Amino acid sequence: MIKKIFSGVQPTGNLHLGNYLGAIKNFVNFQNQEKAECIYCVVDLHAITVKHDPAKLKNSIRETTATFLASGLDFKKSVIFKQSDVPSHSEGSWILGCTAKMGWLNRMTQFKEKAGKDKEKASIGLYIYPILMAADILLYDTTHVPVGDDQKQHLELTRDIAQKFNQEYNLNNFFKIPEPMIQDEFARIMSLKDGKKKMSKSEISDFSRINLNDTKDIIVNKIKKAKTDPLPIPESIEELKKRPEAQNLLGIYSSLNNQGLKDTVNEFSGKNFSEFKKSLSDLLIDKISPISSEINRLNKDISFIDKVLTEGGFKAHEISSKKVKKIKEIIGF
Ligand code: AMP
Ligand code: TRP
Repeated sequence: MIKKIFSGVQPTGNLHLGNYLGAIKNFVNFQNQEKAECIYCVVDLHAITVKHDPAKLKNSIRETTATFLASGLDFKKSVIFKQSDVPSHSEGSWILGCTAKMGWLNRMTQFKEKAGKDKEKASIGLYIYPILMAADILLYDTTHVPVGDDQKQHLELTRDIAQKFNQEYNLNNFFKIPEPMIQDEFARIMSLKDGKKKMSKSEISDFSRINLNDTKDIIVNKIKKAKTDPLPIPESIEELKKRPEAQNLLGIYSSLNNQGLKDTVNEFSGKNFSEFKKSLSDLLIDKISPISSEINRLNKDISFIDKVLTEGGFKAHEISSKKVKKIKEIIGF
């Protein structure tokens, strides 16, 4: 069976190590599998659900595309496009919004986190954002969705919407029920300053994350300052569980080096953090610097980036508009 892969990343500032290890690295793995058709979307419609600066958004769209390419996505193998170029997404989102229930959306924890204390002032867009995400996925008959751990609930909602629509209109498998592809290990990369908080673009301190365009010196400095504890590296994974910062740094090392946490613990047990941090910085520089220099090169080649997006947009439109046409027939338009 051919796997149909779809995923999206918001163009909201620089992408970081969490985006890379939790999502983009997997996008590349799927692209390089034989029986997989991959579609990767820069989800700019999602990015306007919170206050934004139009000039910065324009830049971030290109930069996110550059990051996809610099991380190993190939626009000849995968469809790479931006969401607002393809009207099917907004159209599909409206229609699916008439199937989704308020009660389902009210459970979404990401809305609660992002809306904060004053929910009344959050945009309607932020509230119905998971419906747009469901449209993104369902319009392409997606079978697998590689995402980080934080998107699990949105994927469950997508599955509920697909099932409900199929049932409402007596359809057998019209919308495919997509599988989330969330890594078992290292699905959530944590902040360098607080091992209990997710590494995130929106965290104020830049020292909380490694950006994919950080220079070597910045990487070394950020790892040097990363929070740890005074104990040496333990002998077992069990002992790491009570030490979130230590666990996170060892997890980052393992994920970058494509090895299990146990192997990393074995490699460094008994050593102190200053020694481990040196190895971690070296590994980060080895893996991230080539991506960062390619991002910088591509950022200067705007016409190439725009061409990639335009071409991808045509392909995405061709696929999704056919699905929207069928949906319209089904619902009686
Ligand atoms: P976003 O930047 O929120 O659009 O996220 C893009 C992708 O990166 C999604 O699949 C997220 O689940 C994933 N992601 C974001 N932050 C992290 C993190 N700290 N650890 C792992 N995955 C993440
Ligand atoms: N909501 C996702 C995030 O914030 C981004 C996203 C939008 C997405 N549409 C998608 C991810 C479709 C996977 C599939 O990270």
